Amino acid sequence: MAFNVLISDPLSEEGIQVLNQQDGIHYELATDLTPEALLKKISKVDALLVRSQTQVTRKLIEAAENLKIIGRAGVGVDNIDLNAATERGIIVVNAPNGNTNSAAEHTMAMLMALSRKIPQAYYSLKHQQWDRKKYVGVELKNKTLGIIGLGRIGAEVAYRAKGQRMNIMAYDPFLTKEKADHLGIGYGTVQDVLKEADFITLHTPLLKETKHLLNEEAFEQMKPGVQIINCARGGIIDEAALYEAIVSGKVAGAALDVFEEEPFHDNKLLELSEVFATPHLGASTVEAQENVAVDVCQDVIRFLTGGIVQNP
Ligand code: NAD
Ligand code: MLT
Repeated sequence: MAFNVLISDPLSEEGIQVLNQQDGIHYELATDLTPEALLKKISKVDALLVRSQTQVTRKLIEAAENLKIIGRAGVGVDNIDLNAATERGIIVVNAPNGNTNSAAEHTMAMLMALSRKIPQAYYSLKHQQWDRKKYVGVELKNKTLGIIGLGRIGAEVAYRAKGQRMNIMAYDPFLTKEKADHLGIGYGTVQDVLKEADFITLHTPLLKETKHLLNEEAFEQMKPGVQIINCARGGIIDEAALYEAIVSGKVAGAALDVFEEEPFHDNKLLELSEVFATPHLGASTVEAQENVAVDVCQDVIRFLTGGIVQNP
């Protein structure tokens, strides 16, 4: 049998090689489609491969007469309307493991840059300012890192932060005493984390329950001078509340990789010198992109050839 695969976001060459090696797979790489152009193409497609940019909406899914599987080269499936896919009997697979390490490393890079104001100091130096007083940082050693969401990435961050001799306090509704003891970390309620942490890093999916988890009320409970890292999903932080918390002096700094609206050309938070950001680069390493592309392409082929998928 022959199957048409549409790849609508950039995908690493190693994943494409996996498709090339399978008989009967015809793929098209079309990464700059407008939503209208994608809508026109989708009716002939058996499998759709995306990263986070393509919005797989109900409208798109309802127009996808032949679609059998959607593959997400990455973890978060919040760009896919899962209810609409389920209603149409379309399976959604992701690649949950391939970018864990890269996302954890990016989080540590953000944490260390935040504690020592490295982006701000570099920016100032680039603008001919030699200012050693303004950019005094704080040590990580003996500070408490609050981790909200202790899944794959959260746990890797905990492991690495212990190497910086930080104390860890985690919250995750599925965190067991055994897992916390195994990692050698403290755990408590989300309020415990908010109250005790010097730095807070987020590692949950974006769900109804986690939308605006860090809101005005949450910022009020935090220690004065707390610093925030978000390499998970925009929308877990209420950006307007974070802005106010920084302007009021409650929050001393924030390092953000993800935003409520992506991509953006203008975000008010970036007007604040306490904030620095990267454009959703957590998984942007050669290794992670190879891993997720290969994993998701293998799963799509397993499914199309009658096998059992590994990451539904
Ligand atoms: P995971 O599923 O392994 O872990 C998520 C954890 O969040 C789980 O342990 C879950 O129990 C927990 N959780 C769910 N609801 C919660 C709540 N209300 N409060 C606290 N914890 C809650 O996922 P992961 O692979 O560790 O990924 C975590 C996040 O990072 C996802 O949002 C993913 O999309 C994002 N991510 C971002 C990048 C990037 O490029 N910035 C890269 C990879 C992953
Ligand atoms: C993910 O959820 O896997 C990340 O946000 C990375 C990506 O979308 O590429």
